[in-house]
Amino acid sequence: MKRIGVLTSGGDAPGMNAAIRAVTRTAISKGYEVMGIRRGYNGLVNIEGKETKDEMDSKVVRLGVRDVSAIIQRGGTILFTARCNEFKEWESVLEAKKRCDELNLTGMVVIGGDGSFRGAADLSKAGVPCIGIPGTIDNDISCTDYTIGYDTALNTAMEMVDKIRDTAQSHDRCSVIEVMGRDAGWIALNVGVAVGATAIITPEMKYNMKDIINRIEASKADKKENFIIVVSEGVGDSEGIARTIETMTGIESRATILGHVQRGGSPTVRDRVNASEMGYYAVDLLDQGKSNRVVALKKGRVVDYDILEALKMKKTFDKNLYKIAHIISK
Ligand code: ADP
Ligand code: F6P
Repeated sequence: MKRIGVLTSGGDAPGMNAAIRAVTRTAISKGYEVMGIRRGYNGLVNIEGKETKDEMDSKVVRLGVRDVSAIIQRGGTILFTARCNEFKEWESVLEAKKRCDELNLTGMVVIGGDGSFRGAADLSKAGVPCIGIPGTIDNDISCTDYTIGYDTALNTAMEMVDKIRDTAQSHDRCSVIEVMGRDAGWIALNVGVAVGATAIITPEMKYNMKDIINRIEASKADKKENFIIVVSEGVGDSEGIARTIETMTGIESRATILGHVQRGGSPTVRDRVNASEMGYYAVDLLDQGKSNRVVALKKGRVVDYDILEALKMKKTFDKNLYKIAHIISK
């Protein structure tokens, strides 16, 4: 019987389970068996050569139709995930290829970010056809307009900032809120717009504290009494920014780093639907004999690209939305 594998790698993201479910059920409907590989690429390599056969076997789990029941609404990943540094070495890729042969895997679906796709490109090169599905809250994968988990993270962060706004309002404070995104400002920009932040600070756009202070003071002069500043983690120093605002304006300020709360929770409709569509599409590509491709969402349509081409693409930051935010937050 034909058999494929599925794994999640890098930071987890809400909607990964929906993708695992779609991959599993699509593959079964096409006559494949599905093996879930646990803890990313770690599931395919013997870490430091110390693991017994039983330990290696326990890293692989057969996925039937019912094994993926009632996971579409769950955050995290039932397959666990990992950042496997060994996989950057070609020897580990060859070891993984050997392991895939032992498991009779003729293809693999990798759900993760850019690093995970590099691993998938290597594994494809070694002879295991791989298809990538973009899964990360950061939305920092260039070839796609959207990554699984991003929409849920946006909504979670927005709700958290709304709660912080209640207390900032009660105390006439300025709240500086740091959101995730690694080096990308997508979460900061969109959450900033959604919460009506007075300023949005992202790595893509130059900023200076003097301008931000001026904006706060102009709003204050226009009767605004509390302020939200959204900072992307790629800029960081939310504590320092809050201190500067307090010193320069006299407005009591607090910093909050939202952190991993943004990675959890039940996925939104958008994340569940896109993950389902992408999961289906990925298996369809494998079934057509394709390898080394990544599934992407472009202008609302699911498309696919060569992984290495996709990794070279550049994503342009939405400067127009940034400009709009600047104009409408007063
Ligand atoms: P995150 O951004 O959350 O770290 P990624 O999807 O970028 O997620 O995953 C990074 C992981 O991808 C690495 O920890 C490693 O396990 C895996 N990986 C495999 N091959 C490579 C590679 N050649 N370069 C970088 N990462 C790789
Ligand atoms: O890539 C997802 C992400 O949550 C980033 O936003 C953040 O920079 C990083 O992962 C945090 O990683 P860790 O799980 O190692 O704390």
